[in-house]
Amino acid sequence: MTTTGPLELDDLPGVGPTTAEKLREAGFVTVESIATASPLDLAETAEIGEAVAKKMIKAARELVDIGGFKTGKDVFEQRKEIRKLQTRVPDLDTLLGGGLETQAITELYGEFGSGKSQIVHQLAVNVQLPESEGGLHGSAIYIDTENTFRPERIEQMVNGLEIADADPQEFLKNIHVARAHTSDHQMLLIDTARERAAEMRESDMPVRLFIIDSLTAHFRAEYAGRGTLATRQQKLNRHMHELFKLVDENNAVALVTNQVMSNPAVFFGDPTKPIGGNIVGHTATFRLYLRKSKGGKRIARLVDSPNLPEGEAPFMVEEAGLKPC
Ligand SMILES: Nc1ncnc2c1ncn2[C@@H]1O[C@H](COP(=O)(O)OP(=O)(O)O)[C@@H](O)[C@H]1O
Ligand SMILES: [Mg+2]
Repeated sequence: MTTTGPLELDDLPGVGPTTAEKLREAGFVTVESIATASPLDLAETAEIGEAVAKKMIKAARELVDIGGFKTGKDVFEQRKEIRKLQTRVPDLDTLLGGGLETQAITELYGEFGSGKSQIVHQLAVNVQLPESEGGLHGSAIYIDTENTFRPERIEQMVNGLEIADADPQEFLKNIHVARAHTSDHQMLLIDTARERAAEMRESDMPVRLFIIDSLTAHFRAEYAGRGTLATRQQKLNRHMHELFKLVDENNAVALVTNQVMSNPAVFFGDPTKPIGGNIVGHTATFRLYLRKSKGGKRIARLVDSPNLPEGEAPFMVEEAGLKPC
């Protein structure tokens, strides 16, 4: 895609302010989301005829230039750009095949306190390092839904890098944090993130990491009843789709967290299959299940990876950040 700024829904023919508002409320926040919608879904959502919906989708596809084919060579060229962001815990990086991949979504899931937010803080630091130090020489965008971003923690982790001249204040400048107050707000922030990333694309520190911590908390709280599960799933799917677009456009890493309940039947079942409801499903490319172990040790387990073997790696969370055991 060659556009620099995001397109607005109102740019589409036949979409006035009222329809745009209805679409946004339903989670269609970008032209891309319209381009990939089903005519029936869109027609019902916006209360328009199916023929109008089809026209709208066609126009959106032309605007964003998707829906066509890429050659194998294009795909090959784009995949050649994939970079790896290291946790700097050797066992964990090995488990991940060298680090977290750009152009992919990595999901961290586990119980409260399992280390999800610690990992995202650490990667918001590491992404800024040069590639020779395991970073991507880029900035981070951090969508914070539970008010758990802590600049003090970033400071400790920068000091914990033990890299001469690493100045915590400089690292903090390259982390762009936004609080999301509701799931709708969270989805809209993807748009803001896209704008911010486009502005920074030619800068010295382009955005190479998009964090959503927590991806699922608002969705889970707002769509709790049985009758709302399908809506929740649709919105989350759309949200993940937008995130994929974002990391694709920016050759960046997406890192999202998902809190799950412990399973009381864990002795009989698979502990990596959360009963709290895995509401992200199989959209994430890489999924890491985190759990606490003895002596402050934590274990990350790689689950359902498309191209890596399943396995586990231990790590510690210390004042200085993520460390090997
Ligand atoms: N400064 C610190 N020094 C050592 N450990 C810490 C520090 N800050 C947080 N932790 C550890 O991280 C845990 C919280 O992990 P966190 O990533 O916030 O959990 P969650 O998975 O719910 O996001 C704390 O219980 C503590 O064990
Ligand atoms: Mg957390």
